[in-house]
Amino acid sequence: SRGDAAKGKVIAEQVCAACHGADGNSVASANPSLAGQHAQYLESQLKAFKSGQRNDPIMMGMSAALSDADMKNVAEYFSTQKLKARQASDKTLLPAGQKLYKAGNPVTRIPACMACHGPAGKGFPAQYPALGSQHAAYIVKQLNDFKAGTMRKNSVMADVAMRMSDADMKAVAEYISGL
Ligand code: HEM
Ligand code: HEM
Repeated sequence: SRGDAAKGKVIAEQVCAACHGADGNSVASANPSLAGQHAQYLESQLKAFKSGQRNDPIMMGMSAALSDADMKNVAEYFSTQKLKARQASDKTLLPAGQKLYKAGNPVTRIPACMACHGPAGKGFPAQYPALGSQHAAYIVKQLNDFKAGTMRKNSVMADVAMRMSDADMKAVAEYISGL
């Protein structure tokens, strides 16, 4: 069942707006944009923060106050907001980033990100999050968190991130931020 976006909007404006923007387009690069993200993914992450499975001190505090219904409603609200397009800030990294995103690297056995996150970075509902127009710094932090496995545990993404160098992460994040 879908959440109630009108109820979710009240929570978003009162609680989440300071960091994620009232319309889900965040300004600070540590805070992910949530606009246009798949509702099921947003809900799953809020549950993961609440249970401590995804470890972030700020979001563990924020999610503790949310009921299951609140999570569904606020996820529905942000998913229906329009994501603003972003330009990659370091264009020199785009060729390497694009290559990794679209084709992976057979030598280091990095799979193509596109296979799961889609050619335009829109992901697939219920399975894979959208990445396009996300802050590059946020993307790099998530890849490092998957690699370390302490802040964020996901076996699929851990297997991808453990094959990536810092330079790979930076390049692919710049490419993704401009998608
Ligand atoms: C991450 C939702 C309030 C700071 C996230 C994510 C979600 C979310 C779904 C994960 C996004 C993803 O995986 O792409 C919400 C909701 C809020 C709220 C529904 C209101 C109820 C806040 C506030 C702050 C904040 C007020 C700042 C004080 C962050 C940060 C992250 C994050 C820094 C990234 C954590 C990391 O690096 O893993 N939030 N948020 N959020 N949020 Fe919030
Ligand atoms: C999540 C990047 C390849 C499946 C993520 C996230 C990032 C990312 C940054 C977190 C999104 C957020 O916090 O909003 C990448 C990059 C890839 C890649 C750069 C290529 C180098 C793949 C592939 C698969 C995949 C090939 C599938 C086999 C997933 C899944 C999640 C995810 C299932 C959600 C994990 C969770 O629930 O915590 N990816 N990805 N990714 N990715 Fe990838």
